[in-house]
Amino acid sequence: MTLTVRSFLGGDEGSLAEDVLDGLTRPFKELPPKHFYDAAGAELFDRICDLPEYYPTRAERAILEARSDDIAALTGAAELVALGSGTAAKSRLLLSALAAAGTLRRYVPVDMTEEMIRTTGAALCADYPGLQVRGIVGDFERHLDRLGVPLEPRLVAMLGGTIGNFTPGARRRFLRHVGRLLGPRGTVLVGVDLVKDPARIEAAYDDAAGITARFNRNILRVVNRALRADFEPEQFEHVAFFDREHEWIEMRLRAQRRMTVRIADLGLTVEFAKREELRTEISAKFTPRRLAADLAAARLEPVELLTDPEGLFGLALARPVAAPQATSTRHAVAIPA
Ligand SMILES: C[S@@+](CC[C@H](N)C(=O)[O-])C[C@H]1O[C@@H](n2cnc3c(N)ncnc32)[C@H](O)[C@@H]1O
Repeated sequence: MTLTVRSFLGGDEGSLAEDVLDGLTRPFKELPPKHFYDAAGAELFDRICDLPEYYPTRAERAILEARSDDIAALTGAAELVALGSGTAAKSRLLLSALAAAGTLRRYVPVDMTEEMIRTTGAALCADYPGLQVRGIVGDFERHLDRLGVPLEPRLVAMLGGTIGNFTPGARRRFLRHVGRLLGPRGTVLVGVDLVKDPARIEAAYDDAAGITARFNRNILRVVNRALRADFEPEQFEHVAFFDREHEWIEMRLRAQRRMTVRIADLGLTVEFAKREELRTEISAKFTPRRLAADLAAARLEPVELLTDPEGLFGLALARPVAAPQATSTRHAVAIPA
């Protein structure tokens, strides 16, 4: 078998239940963006990637089309780990470059949706003869250690700007954790949306066709189905704005009227005041300086920041900072005359 899939979700850990209980009982309500992606959410995200306003996917793809061969040569990777792998549309560019360089052996997609990992994994096995696909159905915030220690050069990619969904401190902790799983010959490749004209960023998260609004409301449908809740998604307005102080996008859902929501599986009743907002995503935007500071804090050494011709998006390639050589004290002992 070239395709194996292991799932670490389920059981009592139920992070959706925990996140709903925690996030909807706070004074400022919040749900984490990882819960957007059931099958409908993943399909809506694919549609977002094709929207004229949504530049990040096209810009990141342009970088990978131009530079995947260089990335393959620089990393010599035998294993590509994709964190938040999605449909692997862009990972394919890396896989092809690594296959052409003759180093590719294994692809390890990590995502929350088992169906997507299975379908994508089977297609990749067919398209890349000899490729081993070791899918991990899990939460990369909880199950990263399941990757184990690499025996061959590993490239860990987090594409799509997903790293921007962390708050700054959590982002650095996460990158540090990734760094520990690279092994001495490993490399990390992180896709980051770059700071630019706020109007252009806001348009990318509030498209004219209303697909992002549907994607945003989908999180309420996920909660309704998984936890027997009675949110009325259409009674929430999609809100997206660029926070100039933090340089991140916020997506929120604003209650159109006063509402009482019952979440049966949690025995929880949640009140929304008219115009009260629920935050569903932050998406941080980066300057080279912010990126360098994050990598340094995570003990990662930048190799190169690749950008598209318009300078919209960046792909940062980095390696673990080499551990200081242990100095032997034996030779420092003075030899008596
Ligand atoms: C913005 S999409 C990017 C998909 C793909 N990497 C791309 O560049 O097109 C984010 C992906 O990360 C996954 N994801 C988000 N949070 C996650 C988490 N905590 N653990 C595992 N996967 C997660 C989602 O299911 C989704 O497929």
